[in-house]
Amino acid sequence: MACHRCSLLLLYVTVVFHGHTAAQGGGEDLANIAACDSEIYCSGRLLEAAQNAHVFNDSKTFVDMKMKSEGDEILRAFDALAAGGANLSSAEVMRGFLDQWFDPPGSEFEVWQPTDWRDSPEFLNHVADSSLREWGRHVHQLWKSLGRNIKPDVRARPHLYSLLYVPHPVIVPGGRFREFYYWDTYWIIRGLLLSEMTETTRGMLSNFAEMVKRFGFVPNGGRVYYSRRSQPPVLTLAVRDYLDKTNDTVFVQTVMPQLEMEYNFWMRDRNVTVRGRDNGQHVLNQYRSFIGKSRPESWREDEDAARSLQSGTDPAEFHANVASACESGWDFSSRWYAHGDDVTSIRTTDIIPVDLNVFMCACEAALANMSLLLGRGEAAAQYQAAVERRRAAIDAVLWSDQQGVWLDYNSATGQHTDRFYASNIFPLYNTCYGDGTAQADIEGRVVDYLKKESVLIYPGGFPTSRVPSGEQWDFPNGWPPLQHLVIESLAGSPVREAQRLAQDLAQRWINTNYGQFVRTQAMWEKYDVETGEHPGSGGEYDVQVGFGWTNGVVLHLLDKYGHVLRAPPASTAAAPVLHLVPLILNLTAAVITGQV
Ligand SMILES: *[C@@H]1O[C@H](CO)[C@@H](O)[C@H](O)[C@H]1NC(C)=O
Ligand SMILES: *[C@@H]1O[C@H](CO)[C@@H](O)[C@H](O)[C@H]1NC(C)=O
Ligand SMILES: *[C@@H]1O[C@H](CO)[C@@H](O)[C@H](O)[C@H]1NC(C)=O
Ligand SMILES: *[C@@H]1O[C@H](CO)[C@@H](O)[C@H](O)[C@H]1NC(C)=O
Ligand SMILES: *[C@@H]1O[C@H](CO)[C@@H](O)[C@H](O)[C@H]1NC(C)=O
Ligand SMILES: *[C@@H]1O[C@H](CO)[C@@H](O)[C@H](O)[C@H]1NC(C)=O
Repeated sequence: MACHRCSLLLLYVTVVFHGHTAAQGGGEDLANIAACDSEIYCSGRLLEAAQNAHVFNDSKTFVDMKMKSEGDEILRAFDALAAGGANLSSAEVMRGFLDQWFDPPGSEFEVWQPTDWRDSPEFLNHVADSSLREWGRHVHQLWKSLGRNIKPDVRARPHLYSLLYVPHPVIVPGGRFREFYYWDTYWIIRGLLLSEMTETTRGMLSNFAEMVKRFGFVPNGGRVYYSRRSQPPVLTLAVRDYLDKTNDTVFVQTVMPQLEMEYNFWMRDRNVTVRGRDNGQHVLNQYRSFIGKSRPESWREDEDAARSLQSGTDPAEFHANVASACESGWDFSSRWYAHGDDVTSIRTTDIIPVDLNVFMCACEAALANMSLLLGRGEAAAQYQAAVERRRAAIDAVLWSDQQGVWLDYNSATGQHTDRFYASNIFPLYNTCYGDGTAQADIEGRVVDYLKKESVLIYPGGFPTSRVPSGEQWDFPNGWPPLQHLVIESLAGSPVREAQRLAQDLAQRWINTNYGQFVRTQAMWEKYDVETGEHPGSGGEYDVQVGFGWTNGVVLHLLDKYGHVLRAPPASTAAAPVLHLVPLILNLTAAVITGQV
């Protein structure tokens, strides 16, 4: 037992130490830092051969496979194969080897039916439109097909898996996303709380607390190759929402040390100091992951891109910027590119992003509140002071008086990124600007900005950007978490026009989700705001169905606006087939369960 604890502690110290030395630009050479230490899953000759031979279309497939033997033995067998003159570039040869030594992906999970799922959550009673209410009931049912439990063998023999063991069952996004994802989970939990699944929620929050104990932060997702980058820090916000729903102060007390540990990680390893318009020095946060090699789950894509770098560009820096963009959740987007649609111009670590600093501000406010609740007045005062510093920093560094909105700031050029991104308006979300009181003059200017940028004209929802880069986090894609944050930002404003816009955007997003559901019998990861359809291919991987955060945001909108939302008219949602919906829904559950 003692030894087990001891090795966990060592692991934690090592990971933090790595991040730290790389942060200083000294110590270990960035080019030698892989996504993790595994010579099967994160770097090494077998990984390269398996990915280069193109055995699978999706680079993620191989790194999700379970080893049938110890890693050393597999590597020795691979060396013997190579020494025997086998053609390692041949997909057939490599497929034969992988079949012999690995189990297919997904074999580490068992489908798990949430035990706290119930038939009729209360919030559905307030959805006035009967078609939407029926649909909401079915979206609520989808949780049953997205539940996963990790088999006990993963805990017993974790070194044979890329999966990170967590003790409680989880609701996953769906499709190729077989494991938990960090920021996805925030919107899944918003939905689960409306579905009154508080035990499932508490388990998922406890899992994240375990991850913080082990790594010092919550990894991007539940795989070892995600363990050196995080994602937008939303754990504290999820705990806050869980607390609001349950009053479970005891649980908050239990996880508070991990919430603070995560906060300290972001402040210590992801901070940047910059001079603001007021001439003062301000501390803000950035996405920064210190990985100098290709991402295992997108190995071929990264290797191809690295080969096309201009001479003089350091491949290790390129990979670090790619991993940092993944940490932002916006992978990928013109937001991180110096030149519109050119991934090789990526420089994520120069950008001070609006959204991350809003998330940090919201965490600080929630930590202040929860500290007060736990009777820790001094800590509460410190977090409240952090909120005030954050607001001042956002005013001084991110606000553009010229544009009348907040903009990402490039610390290398000393300029704002003067392009529309949905995240530009997020400081409204928790009024993280000024003195924390919503100001009609500021918020009116933000609405004017949205009109001037012509981003309110799309029937399918609110666009991510106006840049048609071909990347996922750009035009014409609309993403569920961004719809939620934009709608909340506008809905809480004292400006009536902003409130009306929020409701209108909610109706449009519902039209899109509902319309596509009736047509395709599925909930999708993202939608095209021009056509209201789910996008085809484009970006790194094909669009996925399932889908955790989509479902969570739909349930949230049905709850918030259920009294005024209407199912879309026939022309946009194929209403003539509405009577088929129950049948279609039955099929859907089967299709989705079968597919994952
Ligand atoms: C891989 O992609 C190609 C081209 O899109 C397709 O024809 C093939 O069936 C796919 N293979 C697998 C194993 O999915
Ligand atoms: C090895 O396999 C690759 C891919 O199938 C093929 O292009 C190449 O010609 C093969 N090399 C030899 C020496 O057979
Ligand atoms: C939580 O506690 C507050 C204050 O004690 C009370 O007003 C609220 O109704 C409680 N909520 C729940 C869900 O029990
Ligand atoms: C910012 O990061 C540096 C280097 O990691 C650290 O020394 C400093 O204490 C951090 N600043 C804050 C405010 O935590
Ligand atoms: C903190 O508590 C105050 C008072 O109860 C409330 O108005 C505010 O919304 C809370 N903030 C957060 C971030 O939970
Ligand atoms: C859906 O499937 C269940 C069990 O598979 C069945 O009992 C039910 O009647 C079906 N409902 C419809 C509307 O087909």
